[in-house]
Order: sequence, then structure tokens, then C-alpha cells
Amino acid sequence: MKNLNIGLIGYGLMGKAHSNAFTKVNYFFDLEYKPVLKTVCGRDEARVKAFAENWGYESYETDWRKVVERDDIDAIDIAAPNNMHKEIAIAAAKAGKMVLCEKPLAMNVAASREMADAVAAAGVPSLVWYNYRFVPAVTMAKNLIDEGRLGQIFHYRGNFLQDWTISEDLPQGGEALWRLDIESAGSGVTGDLLAHCIDTAMWLNGPIESVTAMTETFIKERVHQSTGKKQKVSIDDASAFLARFANGSLAIFEATRYARGHKALKTFEINGRDASIAWDLHDLHRLSYFDNGDDSALKGWRSIHVTDNSGDHPYMDKWWIPGTSIGYEHTFVHCIMEFLKSLEDGAPAFAPNFEDAVKTDAVCEAVLQSAKDKTWKTIDYKGA
Ligand SMILES: NC(=O)c1ccc[n+]([C@@H]2O[C@H](COP(=O)([O-])OP(=O)(O)OC[C@H]3O[C@@H](n4cnc5c(N)ncnc54)[C@H](O)[C@@H]3O)[C@@H](O)[C@H]2O)c1
Repeated sequence: MKNLNIGLIGYGLMGKAHSNAFTKVNYFFDLEYKPVLKTVCGRDEARVKAFAENWGYESYETDWRKVVERDDIDAIDIAAPNNMHKEIAIAAAKAGKMVLCEKPLAMNVAASREMADAVAAAGVPSLVWYNYRFVPAVTMAKNLIDEGRLGQIFHYRGNFLQDWTISEDLPQGGEALWRLDIESAGSGVTGDLLAHCIDTAMWLNGPIESVTAMTETFIKERVHQSTGKKQKVSIDDASAFLARFANGSLAIFEATRYARGHKALKTFEINGRDASIAWDLHDLHRLSYFDNGDDSALKGWRSIHVTDNSGDHPYMDKWWIPGTSIGYEHTFVHCIMEFLKSLEDGAPAFAPNFEDAVKTDAVCEAVLQSAKDKTWKTIDYKGA
């Protein structure tokens, strides 16, 4: 087995999800490559040391540049806030490292374009952690669509609804709340939540051609954790858009952190001439499927529990027994597994990679621009 030495940057929520995936993947999947937890980087020495000890990293660093410079690192994994992605990714590519990066790839399309160019120029593989592609039921939806079971696609609906920023007492900026600060996040729910919906949608249904959007910032000022003063909030709290896909289908997308009662309601529904599919993150093993070819007496939505280990249900033959569940953390295991497989001789390149994520960022940017000037935008994939 060949070692793939990992240098992880950032040890928050995603640092944990990635470390767990690196640790588990070889126990469940037969692969030539094995991630090795070489080093983890964070700015607070005591905390990064504790993280390294807890997860079994061989060392820790407090300056990401040191990680990029180390000869014993093969892949840099960026799990830091969005404003850090570009500088780290470009430096890593220039140092000849593979680059794994959290989503959204960058703060804007120009930056993500530079990042994709940097990995292409260096000839290094890249990965973007759009993990929802790797939910077994979502992968199965992709397979059903690719088999042509839906026929011509008419409609796509994608949502990502949360409710955790409704209180006006919630500050912006700094630890955990960098998502509310435009300087660290680049945008609000468009980059944070819709980016996931757009990645899933374009994977399932092809490129989005044009969009028209609206956004709103419901709470206009919040105390900034770094200054202790009330400052303008510049992120979008809610974002909704209409879209046309290149295949002629129509779409409607919505993301918000103000949908009281919803914690992470990521859903999609896709309606074709012959069949429809619906999925919901809160019940992630269930794929709802309606087949117009069924006998009329039995015609109706069926709820498929995607846990069979016969090989028909993606990834599930590698886990437990039919009827038992896996969860959120396994999406990261599957994602890194597919990446490691792509490194084997003759294997196709991994997706989603930086090029794929630039396209998603292009749609996000068009959404934000459309909301500003209230016109339809055609997505410029050539520029992306
Ligand atoms: N794929 C997903 O479903 C998903 C879910 C959550 C977050 N994300 C993305 O993951 C990234 C990180 O989000 P998170 O929720 O883990 O954030 P977090 O706040 O939990 O963790 C961020 C980490 O980055 C570290 N960090 C910040 N600046 C740094 C620097 N200069 N050098 C080294 N480390 C630094 C912080 O100390 C912290 O450990 C973001 O890009 C976010 O959009 C993706």
C-alpha cells in the first residue's frame, strides 16, 4: 500500500469530518493508497496540539506555510474559512502538492479560476469536498438519471433551509461565526448552502444556463466579535433563484438561515417525462421514486430504503447489513475513497475537482449579481 501523507489546515467542524474519513477509509474499501495523518495546522498551539493528539496526527504546525513547505507532505487539505482557500491552494499547487479544498472553492469566480489554473499548471490532482454527491441515495439518483429512466427532464427543485441565525443578538465574525462576516465568507447562504445545491443539481441535471435571483439580509447590523462594535451585515441571509438548465428544464432554488424549525433541510426533486425522484437530507437513506411505467393499480411514489448490500445500492455493500444505516460522516469517507481510487493507474480523474467547483462558483456569482441588478444572467462558463 502506498502512503498519501496529509497536511490538514484547520481543525474545526470540517477538520474533524476529514480526519475521520482519512482514518476510516482503508478499513472499509480496498485501495492502493492510504492517507497518513502527518500534520495538522491551526493558529492556537494548545488547541491544535490537543487535536493532533486526539486524532493521531504525527505532528502539528501553527503556520500553514510551514505545512506547504514540508517535503514529507503529499496532499494539502484546506478546512479553513473561505477567505483562506485561495492563498493556501495556490501555494500548495506551486509546491507540487495535491490540493483538497472545502467548498465554496473561493470568495469569487476570479479567485477560483486562479486556483484551478494553479493546479492545472502544476499537474496535481484536486478535490473539492462537495460531500452530498456521495450519499448513497444521491449517487443512486445520479445512476437512475444516467440510465435514462426519467426521460426528458422538465423540472428541478433544490432547497437548503436552516434557522440558526434568526436571533439579532448573534454576533458576526471570529470563531464559529466567520460565516456571517463577508470578509471571511465572501457571501452568505449563496456560497455556504446554495453552492451545495448547485453542485448536486449540475451533477444530476447538467449545466445551468441562466438565472434570476433575489437575496435579503434580514438583520442589517450585528456586533462584530473582533471590534465589539455593531457593524453592517453584508452577507445574504436568504437567497432564491430561478434557473434554466442547458437541457431545457426549469428550476427553482432556495436557501436561508431563517426557516424556523429547519436545521439542515437539503432537498431536491426532479421531474421527468417518465419518472420523478425526490430526496431529503433529514432522511438521507430514503429515495422517493415515481415511475409512470408502473401498473396503474399500483402507481404511486415508492420510498426506497437505500441500504441493500447486493451492489445495486451505491457504497452500501462495503458497510453493514441491509436495513441498517450509515450517515453524514460516511459521505466524506466515500469522497476521499473516490479520490484515492482516482490516483490508481489508469483511473479516471476525480470529480468534483477544482474545474467543477469553478463552474459552481460561476453560478453563485451570477445569482448574487442578478439579485443586485434585478436582471437575468447567462452563466459565463468560458470566463469561469
Ligand atoms: N462540505 C460541507 O458540507 C461543509 C460543511 C461545513 C463547512 N464547510 C466549509 O469548510 C470550511 C471550514 O468550515 P468549518 O465549518 O470547518 O469552520 P470552523 O470555524 O469549524 O473551522 C475553521 C478552522 O480553520 C482554522 N483557521 C482559520 N484561519 C486559519 C489560519 N489562518 N491558519 C490555519 N487555520 C486557520 C480555525 O482555527 C478552525 O480550526 C469552510 O470553507 C466551509 O465553507 C463545508
